[in-house]
Amino acid sequence: MSKSLQAIRGMNDILPEQTPLWRHFEGTVARLLDNYGYKQIRMPIVEFTELFKRSIGEVTDIVEKEMYTFDDRNGDSLTLRPEGTAACVRAVLEHGITGGGQVQKLWYVGPMFRHERPQKGRYRQFHQIGLEVFNLDGPDIDAELIVLTWRLWGELGIRDAVKLELNSLGTSESRGRYREALVAFLSTHLDKLDEDSQRRLKTNPLRVLDTKNADTQAILADAPKMADYLDDESRLHFEGLKARLDAVGIPYVINPKLVRGLDYYSKTVFEWVTDKLGAQGTVCAGGRYDGLVEQMGGKPTPGVGFAMGIERLVLMLETLEQIPEEISRQVDVYLCAFGEAAELAGLALAERVRDQLPNLRLQVNAGAGSFKSQFKKADKSGALYALILGDDEMAQQVVGFKPLRGQGEQQSIAWDALAAHLATCIVQG
Ligand code: HAM
Repeated sequence: MSKSLQAIRGMNDILPEQTPLWRHFEGTVARLLDNYGYKQIRMPIVEFTELFKRSIGEVTDIVEKEMYTFDDRNGDSLTLRPEGTAACVRAVLEHGITGGGQVQKLWYVGPMFRHERPQKGRYRQFHQIGLEVFNLDGPDIDAELIVLTWRLWGELGIRDAVKLELNSLGTSESRGRYREALVAFLSTHLDKLDEDSQRRLKTNPLRVLDTKNADTQAILADAPKMADYLDDESRLHFEGLKARLDAVGIPYVINPKLVRGLDYYSKTVFEWVTDKLGAQGTVCAGGRYDGLVEQMGGKPTPGVGFAMGIERLVLMLETLEQIPEEISRQVDVYLCAFGEAAELAGLALAERVRDQLPNLRLQVNAGAGSFKSQFKKADKSGALYALILGDDEMAQQVVGFKPLRGQGEQQSIAWDALAAHLATCIVQG
């Protein structure tokens, strides 16, 4: 196939054999969020470029080099969203749904776009489920976000494989004082810093803490620590969060170098990381952004949220083999009909059964075929039972009920009794 007719590098098809696990993941999250009282919001995938520049920050990797930006036909600069927070803030402001201190607990799911170098766990189109909470400024809500992800990891069976890293970036005032101290310290080591860090020192000094360069990391060992610059408000907030995590029994490590790659954070930042995925080990990340709404033209409105990467979490479920049995089996019953009359009767019978058992996964063989080939398909479908409808069965108004997984002999079941019989044989989800 010519290259221009292939999918774009880093943008993947999610194939039919993969979608059951995606739906299991998304369904588990959606149910959990319903139970915690979060409401779904859906934003467009494309926004004005300015929105992302203003919120994520001009001097960030995302805005400097990773955005898919293009001119619309009428000359507006538009960008495929690289993340969800900016658009969510835009939406709540535009619709006035956080006005007057109204609390909003929102979540979204969908594709995000970043022109990064693709590798395992890192793609150019990837998918996030994100949460954003507005108008709650206490550490209790920061804790709730972390507690619900902890529950999610438990439900998915991956709790032992993830670790929580926490930090506080403080209020913008305390961060300003820390930035000054850090710049003063790093300036005395300027010639020993790697090139990227030298550049960041001028443009976005906190991001130097994030460096992967070993020499710069060594210098940073003696750098001033953010924790020593936190004002009382930030310190109390952070202590409050830690006390709540301790109360629930969620382990965490404080990582003073955790600064995050987006500029809007203040106070709490956190990441859930794993060593099961290689280099791209952050499966969920977020924090507080108390200044963002105001910076985007709204009234001061505290905000906090996070987003998780669906590809990475699905990869984890595969790696740790946490794939529930019911999603590896997609079919409960497979109906094989032989001959034209049987096919018509089979269709009507299948619909009657579906009326009575709406959750039954009943597949009807499409297209004629020999006895042998239909059975092969029934077996391959993974179904527990085959229903057989041929001339003999038609004459007696019964179906042959054949266990496919070694659960006994074939029986004849009257059409009228079929749904009741299936209900006793199959435990439905
Ligand atoms: P982020 O750290 O940029 O934060 O992304 C969140 C998560 O999305 C990452 O931890 C990772 O699991 C996933 N992710 C990011 N980039 C890629 C990629 N190229 N390929 C695959 N997965 C990826 C945000 O986006 C913030 N909006 C989170 C937030 C919400 N903060 C507050 N509210």
